[in-house]
Amino acid sequence: MRALLCEHHGPPEELRFADVPEPVPGPGEIRFRVKAASVNFPDALMIQNLYQRQPPLPFIPGSEAAGVIDAVGEGVEGLRVGDRVATIPFEGAFAELAIAPAFRTTVIPESMGFDIGAGFTMVYATALHGLEQRGRLRPGETLLVLGAAGGVGLAAVEVGKLMGAHVIAAASSEEKLTLARAHGADETVNYAQVDLKQAVKALTGERGVDVIFDPVGGALAEPAFRTMGWDGRYLVVGFAAGTIPAIPLNLPLVKTASIVGVTWGVHSRREPDLHAANMAQLYRWYAEGGLCPAVSKRFPFEQSREAIRWMMDRKIQGKVVIEVA
Ligand SMILES: NC(=O)c1ccc[n+]([C@@H]2O[C@H](COP(=O)([O-])OP(=O)(O)OC[C@H]3O[C@@H](n4cnc5c(N)ncnc54)[C@H](OP(=O)(O)O)[C@@H]3O)[C@@H](O)[C@H]2O)c1
Repeated sequence: MRALLCEHHGPPEELRFADVPEPVPGPGEIRFRVKAASVNFPDALMIQNLYQRQPPLPFIPGSEAAGVIDAVGEGVEGLRVGDRVATIPFEGAFAELAIAPAFRTTVIPESMGFDIGAGFTMVYATALHGLEQRGRLRPGETLLVLGAAGGVGLAAVEVGKLMGAHVIAAASSEEKLTLARAHGADETVNYAQVDLKQAVKALTGERGVDVIFDPVGGALAEPAFRTMGWDGRYLVVGFAAGTIPAIPLNLPLVKTASIVGVTWGVHSRREPDLHAANMAQLYRWYAEGGLCPAVSKRFPFEQSREAIRWMMDRKIQGKVVIEVA
């Protein structure tokens, strides 16, 4: 089968297409014919050896995809050959065939295309797990989302609205903020042009923000934290800016606020029933029209390297999809 191969760590331009043996599903795994894959930030980190999870070389990158099951491993229940599924293999998705754990694989609704399914699970499941189980977001609370037009950011805007929050979307351009507004944001802040702390404080006054969803990190983290209200929850989701921020610990003390880590991958493995319930909720919302996944760009399979570069150049709005078959 044809696959994109990472033979040494480096930029996406150094990945190479190759014919490789078809993977065989082990116990608890499914194999699927990949129809579409989506680009996620860990894809770029893994090929550069910058991610916490590091597959041995050579490996096929690609963390997320949708397709049709063509084989199931021993002990797999509830999934059958022919099912249309979305799944997270974490690696191997930029190929014609891939394997993935059954517990991270869900049957997609008939109404959902493979292009949408390919980018649905990672961003929405992270947003819901982060805001519900980790952030305890309640109706009427104010939610600040950084990187609000990126993959997980835009998903957090939509999920936050569905959970009844007042959502402030923050991003680096007017175009990105227009997208966040179209997906439900109540207010917007362009942090490339105005001071984030001052702008959010002007919107929230003395009360401050209740929950912050931060997939960006870097220099934005501390000014964002300073907008936090009493009993606020700061969700550490990712570091797309490239640097891991250090928050002075007097800040959570004086604000009586919490810094809360979110790791969806570990949650889905340790709490598969809760993850399944979250996915069922997300598919219900999708069927009702509450979630409107945004695919802003599509690349043919041969241009997978360009798709990864597109994300690394900070150009992604919503999701970018690679059409494999
Ligand atoms: N904790 C978890 O369970 C979990 C799950 C999924 C993803 N993540 C993490 O969340 C982060 C975002 O992932 P994503 O898939 O949403 O990525 P994405 O679609 O590329 O969005 C990232 C956003 O970060 C902002 N950004 C700031 N500096 C950037 C830079 N130097 N390069 C690229 N983007 C930059 C951009 O928004 P502006 O231009 O508006 O600033 C961009 O829209 C990643 O660190 C990823 O590993 C964590």
